[in-house]
Amino acid sequence: EKGGYDYFMLKEIAEQPKAVADTLLGRIDAAGSLSLDEVRIGAGELREVDKVVIIACGTAFHAGLIAKYAIEHWTRIPCEVELASEFRYRDPILGHRTLVIAISQSGETMDTLMALRHAREQGSKVLAICNTNGSTIPRESDAALYTHAGPEVAVASTKAFLTQLVACYLVALYLAQVRGTKWGDEIGAVIRDLSRIAGAVERVLETMEPVRALARTLASKDTVLFLGRHVGYPVALEGALKLKELAYMHAEGFAAGELKHGPIALIEEDLPVVVVVPSPQARSVLHDKIVSNIQEIRARGARTIVIAEEGDEAVAPYADHLIRIPATPTLLQPVVATVPLQVFACELATARGNEVDQPRNLAKSVTVE
Ligand code: M6R
Repeated sequence: EKGGYDYFMLKEIAEQPKAVADTLLGRIDAAGSLSLDEVRIGAGELREVDKVVIIACGTAFHAGLIAKYAIEHWTRIPCEVELASEFRYRDPILGHRTLVIAISQSGETMDTLMALRHAREQGSKVLAICNTNGSTIPRESDAALYTHAGPEVAVASTKAFLTQLVACYLVALYLAQVRGTKWGDEIGAVIRDLSRIAGAVERVLETMEPVRALARTLASKDTVLFLGRHVGYPVALEGALKLKELAYMHAEGFAAGELKHGPIALIEEDLPVVVVVPSPQARSVLHDKIVSNIQEIRARGARTIVIAEEGDEAVAPYADHLIRIPATPTLLQPVVATVPLQVFACELATARGNEVDQPRNLAKSVTVE
């Protein structure tokens, strides 16, 4: 049932292009607009929404962090992202104009379920983004948008994460479409880009051998740091989480701009630091800043592992290892940039002799608070 792969995780990584394509299937009409019939929250109500709050745990929380950038950019609706386990304990401000989005692969995560119950008690509408048909979280929500990743068996989430991102983009674009925003033209173009993203994931998967080889050389390291900016920051957090749960290594993700506020003190000779570089065209200031961050850490001895788009030559001189990903619009880049980090963590876990599909101390769905 592992389809010839050694681990479910490897199979699920390989299934990502299909999972992404399936999650888009039937949701973009012939005219290039979105039709999300499942979102049974009326257009009138969606036009009234004055705040979006995303609740989730773990990897799903990282999808939520990325969704915030897309939602705020395309819809101009303020969006907060909160760990479900923290949410209800701080008496969050919720009302009938707040749209709450609960993201969960399993649909059974107790922290997320309790947070969504709290939101509904306060009169908010809840939209679930979920991978498991008929599970508790979508059943208790006002509406559900299913990700079509298929069953995810490995404890470490991979294909579910990529499809969560796709679902979040769909919701963000749908909100923009329903409400009409000044980004009208851009939205049509983004929908076209989104429909091509599965192909980009496929191309990344074809070039992963050097990433595996690199991972094997790092098996005896204690620490790996991950840096990113903008949507690359949650990608860095996700890369670090994958490494913790699979390789049992100390791994931390930072916003690259925070380096000089503390974390740069951690840099020492030969410390592996993975840097997720944003698209060079789209936000050039951001790109320039991360190039200087890479220079700063390299000057202090870090071994830089740079994930950058094809054609981005500015980073090349400072990369000890360069991992190329296809050029992608900035907000969509996490869909491709995450894939090498999954492969990296999986290979490190294997090299360290760990159980890839069933890491110690973890369960696939966490049904206790
Ligand atoms: O089923 P859920 O998406 O609600 O699960 C949330 C987290 O427990 C989950 O993403 C966890 O962090 C994964 N093991 C990460 O790979």
